[in-house]
Amino acid sequence: MYVCICQGVTDRQIREAVGEGCGSMRELRQQLGVAATCGRCATYAKQMLDETLAVASEGELAAA
Ligand code: FES
Repeated sequence: MYVCICQGVTDRQIREAVGEGCGSMRELRQQLGVAATCGRCATYAKQMLDETLAVASEGELAAA
């Protein structure tokens, strides 16, 4: 599903970028261009970023 229409960025690309070390909206913007044009996707992209980071840290806790 497209999160950012302007840049054609999907939810999967955001998850992958977070998995590869993106930890902030600034990094996502630099890497994928998310929210760099109209900014309408910023709220949802941030939500996805937070959710993906939370799931990732839960996974780390479970593995520890
Ligand atoms: S929809 Fe993402 S910048 Fe416009």
